[in-house]
Amino acid sequence: MDTIIIDGKQTARSVLQRLSAQIGQLKQSGHTPGLAVVLVGEDPASRVYVNSKVKACEELGIYSQKWALPTETTQEELVQLIRQLNADDRIHGILVQSPPPKHIDEQAVVLAIDPRKDVDGFHPINVAKLVLEDPTGFVPCTPLGCMELLSACGIPTQGKHAVVIGRSMIVGKPMAHLLVGKRANATVTIAHSRTADLPGLCRTADILVAAVGRPGLVTADFIKPGAVVLDVGINRVEDATRPRGYRIVGDVDFASVQPLCSAITPVPGGVGPMTIAMLMSNTVKACKLACGA
Ligand code: GUN
Repeated sequence: MDTIIIDGKQTARSVLQRLSAQIGQLKQSGHTPGLAVVLVGEDPASRVYVNSKVKACEELGIYSQKWALPTETTQEELVQLIRQLNADDRIHGILVQSPPPKHIDEQAVVLAIDPRKDVDGFHPINVAKLVLEDPTGFVPCTPLGCMELLSACGIPTQGKHAVVIGRSMIVGKPMAHLLVGKRANATVTIAHSRTADLPGLCRTADILVAAVGRPGLVTADFIKPGAVVLDVGINRVEDATRPRGYRIVGDVDFASVQPLCSAITPVPGGVGPMTIAMLMSNTVKACKLACGA
């Protein structure tokens, strides 16, 4: 089968180009979108993500603040910072990189963020708006990026059976809501670690989204020929042949799955680049909503 390898880098570039024009217009009317990115602790992967988010802001002309706080930061100190950012008119979006150190209650931190600045879409108000299909809400960036990829590639979703593997609040659940919503009109099954006969269920999927964080979980026996496969996994696996000693792989065993499907996202270069592009998009949206543009 001729498989389309979905190019997330290219789609992300075109999203960013579109945003750049919108940012230009906002600036002309005296409004500069602003994003605060908060990292607590030393997690190396989180540090890389945070730096790329700040870099994306700089490249687009979005005002940004990076807050790198020590591991010992208390919950109260973090919430205090969030209150300060809630009150800062230059800041339209606030992102606290997940996961925080163990002593921090992540849900309490999310609750402290003004829902109008919650560009991650993690606040219960925004979760509710997603379920209600209220367009003033913020949708988590990774599933939003998956939907953008499907639409940019002209992949139809209406009436299709989508199986989402993973029930996280960051990807699986919001992804399922977007797919079942009135824009996409798919029929959706959410699968998870206790699902019976996962390969058999996945073989009924026209669109399969893997978002569990288990390298190579999805193999050829999960795939209906012609299915579209979105691989959200970003897993580090040891690889002594690489300078860093590891390589990044998805949740999908690309080599065995790719020949069977009509379209598939690679890892890296698939869903990953879209996440940051959608964060920029949510920040611009927050600015527009704040200034009434
Ligand atoms: N960690 C992994 N993905 C994300 C994300 O989308 N937002 C935040 N805040 N942390 C993450």
